[in-house]
Amino acid sequence: MKAAILTALNEPLQIRDDVGLADLGPGEVHLKIVSSGVCHSDLSAQNGTIPVATPCVLGHEGAGVIQEVGPGVTQVKAGDPVILSFTPACRECKNCLRGQSYLCDAMVPMMMTPHFVIDGNPVSGMTGCGTFAEEMIVPESAVVKVDDDIPLDIVSLIGCGVTTGVGASINTAKVTPGSSVVVFGAGGVGISAIQGARIAGAAEILAVDLVDSKLNMAKQFGATHVCKPDDFEGMNLQITGGEGFDYALECIGNPVTIRATYDAARRGGTAVVVGVGRMDQNIEFTAFELFYADKNLRGSMYGSSNVRTFMPKLLRLWKAGKLDLENMISRRIKIDEVNDAFRAMQEGEVIRSVINF
Ligand code: APR
Ligand code: ZN
Repeated sequence: MKAAILTALNEPLQIRDDVGLADLGPGEVHLKIVSSGVCHSDLSAQNGTIPVATPCVLGHEGAGVIQEVGPGVTQVKAGDPVILSFTPACRECKNCLRGQSYLCDAMVPMMMTPHFVIDGNPVSGMTGCGTFAEEMIVPESAVVKVDDDIPLDIVSLIGCGVTTGVGASINTAKVTPGSSVVVFGAGGVGISAIQGARIAGAAEILAVDLVDSKLNMAKQFGATHVCKPDDFEGMNLQITGGEGFDYALECIGNPVTIRATYDAARRGGTAVVVGVGRMDQNIEFTAFELFYADKNLRGSMYGSSNVRTFMPKLLRLWKAGKLDLENMISRRIKIDEVNDAFRAMQEGEVIRSVINF
């Protein structure tokens, strides 16, 4: 089958059509991918921000149809349409049992188990997925079944960006009606955070991005105000009187904008780090300010979402016309065009490219 493979850091992905699958083990499912979004984290794997062992089949935001299930699988069967969850929700580990399945302990074993075969060698998929492939194998715990009438190309974005962004506003920040929100970065994740803030009833939503077209898009998805980073202080003054926002979300993964996000939250407000920065990058805070500002500073893994309940909720919001997924798809492409999709994302031309198989 066809798949897009990262062979070495900073190299273009290699498209091969001779990639195989390992045997289907107990508790695993074999699926055909219908669609996969191209997320910034795929680019971050290519450039080393997110460490992955190479070779690696990239892609972690997708939806597909179960072909076959391994021994012991009880929750899904052949023919079921599913969204992939890059964090399994095993229902057994401590984090799942305490209601934080987005921190499921089975994530590392899932990432370490190779399910692809290239040149006779076992190869892993990104985050244990690898949705830039026509077919894949994952543990049963890493799929969320959806209704038969759901168009999988549209909802594939729920596999990462939408759950991460909407979840960051609703589950992590817990945006409240009438509040003020600022979102740094209006890509797939930031646009989703803006939609989450809109759904939660925020009064003002400011989108901050470097790219004009992204700011225009942000308005379409619910931003009430938009600006470039240099104009932030003026907008802060206009919207909050200068005290800062109730909620500030960073959807870029850059230490400078993470620091700006902390600063953008008001005293007693909430700053959420959604973007993924490098392991060797640091951010400075003075010991005094952390105490004095009394802010909540939080990370957000997968939008702090329990996927089995939150993904169906997102689908209902989409069906009710309250969550726009269609317009988040800037381009529909084939797997052979994935390197161009990376370039377009880097140059700020797209919110999401979606690969259809
Ligand atoms: N200031 C403001 N905006 C910026 C800056 C900056 N310094 N640098 C980049 N941006 C904007 C880009 O113009 C782009 O619109 O941030 C946006 C990032 O969007 P995408 O590249 O589409 O990335 P996305 O898929 O949304 O992911 C964002 O979340 O899950 C993580 O790993 C992911 O760290 C990444 C982040
Ligand atoms: Zn992603």
